[in-house]
Amino acid sequence: MTHQNPFQSSVRLRRIRKSKNIRDMVTETQLSVKNLIWPVFILEGHNRKEEVKSLPGVFKYSLDLLLKEVKKASELGLPGLALFPVIPENKKDTQASESANPDGLMPQAIREIKKHNPELCLFTDVAMDPYSSDGHDGLVDDGKILNDETLPILAKMALVQAQAGADFIAPSDMMDHRIGYIRQYLDKNGYTNTGLLSYSAKYASAFYGPFRDALDSNPKSGDKKTYQMNPANSTEALEEVTQDLSEGADIVMVKPALSYLDIIQKVSENFDRPVAAYNVSGEYAMLKLLAQQGLAQERDIVLESLTAIKRAGAQIIFTYFAKDVAEWLKDK
Ligand code: PBG
Repeated sequence: MTHQNPFQSSVRLRRIRKSKNIRDMVTETQLSVKNLIWPVFILEGHNRKEEVKSLPGVFKYSLDLLLKEVKKASELGLPGLALFPVIPENKKDTQASESANPDGLMPQAIREIKKHNPELCLFTDVAMDPYSSDGHDGLVDDGKILNDETLPILAKMALVQAQAGADFIAPSDMMDHRIGYIRQYLDKNGYTNTGLLSYSAKYASAFYGPFRDALDSNPKSGDKKTYQMNPANSTEALEEVTQDLSEGADIVMVKPALSYLDIIQKVSENFDRPVAAYNVSGEYAMLKLLAQQGLAQERDIVLESLTAIKRAGAQIIFTYFAKDVAEWLKDK
């Protein structure tokens, strides 16, 4: 059956979608395992593996078991990890003192992982919340989050991680001036080659719920809106990035990712520096649940989502799907 199309145009955009080979040839954005960083949760003790209930398929591991998973991740070609320690309640206090312990869970994990996988790039989280009995990223005084008083605590935490062998310190706390303060402190102590990945545009998002569940790090009172950004703002994100780069950040991050693709794009277009994005816990859960309900193919929605994050302009993507994706991309 032929139909006379009265519209006169020789342009037919479907020609480049005709076959898989031509579609592959004209693909603009190619997601690679090399773009992916796998965030991991570390438990104290031995032989422990616990699923995070709100994140089906994501586990917290004690270091001995984690090392086995890390070896697999490295064999799959993943270039790096983001480390998050699960600190028991009895080691938390208002000052996050445990974060400065050179023999604490985090520095121990950094040393061990580096010893066995020197090539893996380790990004280590700096913020008070995993260690704080208040569950906030900064010091709390009478309900207020103190900025300048928090900086030395963050800097000590960063130094302990750098001494243990972290490649990039990743401050996720959103205090003002923390990048400059930490940079100077690391330099003064001889760690001029330890990098800084700043969570520059980190929003006060409702998508962090499952992560706080995993770490048991919900704020005990109030919320994080006096330090994390208002989801309604975008020019402010550029201001945050400008500030962090001027203070010495090597890589800047936008977080979350999927509801903030416009921010990722703006940051990547406005600055000639590497941009990272964090595909956060709530985004993982959202996709996972859709797949578990049989409403989408997991592989398809995950690859589509991560490709979108890269298309927006992020070269580095933190994602709990990292190992799955590495498996899927193996035969590509
Ligand atoms: C805390 C921190 C959070 C995440 C990473 N670092 C949570 C928060 O700000 O409350 C969230 C990551 C995720 O949801 O996957 N400094």
